Amino acid sequence: MSARINPSILSADFVNFERDFGSIANCDLIHVDVMDNNFVPNLTFGLPMVARMQQVTPKPLDVHLMISNVDKWAPGYAEAGAYSVTFHAEASENPVALARNLRAIGARAGVAIKPGTDVEQYLDVLQEFDQLLVMTVEPGFGGQSLIEATLEKVAKARRKIDAEKLDVWLQVDGGIDETNIERVASLGADTFVAGSAVFKADDRAKQIENLRDLANAGIRHRH
Ligand code: DX5
Ligand code: ZN
Repeated sequence: MSARINPSILSADFVNFERDFGSIANCDLIHVDVMDNNFVPNLTFGLPMVARMQQVTPKPLDVHLMISNVDKWAPGYAEAGAYSVTFHAEASENPVALARNLRAIGARAGVAIKPGTDVEQYLDVLQEFDQLLVMTVEPGFGGQSLIEATLEKVAKARRKIDAEKLDVWLQVDGGIDETNIERVASLGADTFVAGSAVFKADDRAKQIENLRDLANAGIRHRH
């Protein structure tokens, strides 16, 4: 297993996305945060922007929907060609049905949980998803500090994935940087979103390599 580093373009220049994609060309997937000012108290962009992004970059997009009424809106992102579509369990009437719908359209299907949401009920149906996103901050803004208490859910999910040999990526998002990524990887995450830690770096490509090396060291030291 090798770590994936997905820079969050929430920390990019919103009028220069295409240029900023060039500065992170060695990343694994590009993390795209869609916010509706309803599910979270912040607003970014919607479907036409994401569709256009997937046209201008050969990188797979890792779309993170922080929107309400997601059963209605998420399939459009899969239809637009997004490689991976992750929605919040808290915003869906039926996460398993929505994941099946996304997969049928041809996207990877991810389910996300906020820091206060228990992971248990989603572990029972984990094989229905391609990715579990354990939010390590309250969704809505970049640049926050990682909430330590969320890491217990990462460890729990890792035990389940390994015990049942599931093909599910375990993603963390929020407050991930060079000071904690190795430890979070050692607890079980394999897919890392990093916004400010990548975009603030003088050399973003070098920072991506640095984060990936640290994460891979953490994966090797799992016990
Ligand atoms: C927050 C977003 C994150 C955000 C992470 O709600 O989902 O993807 O951009 O930013 P950092 O890495 O700065 O915490
Ligand atoms: Zn995100």
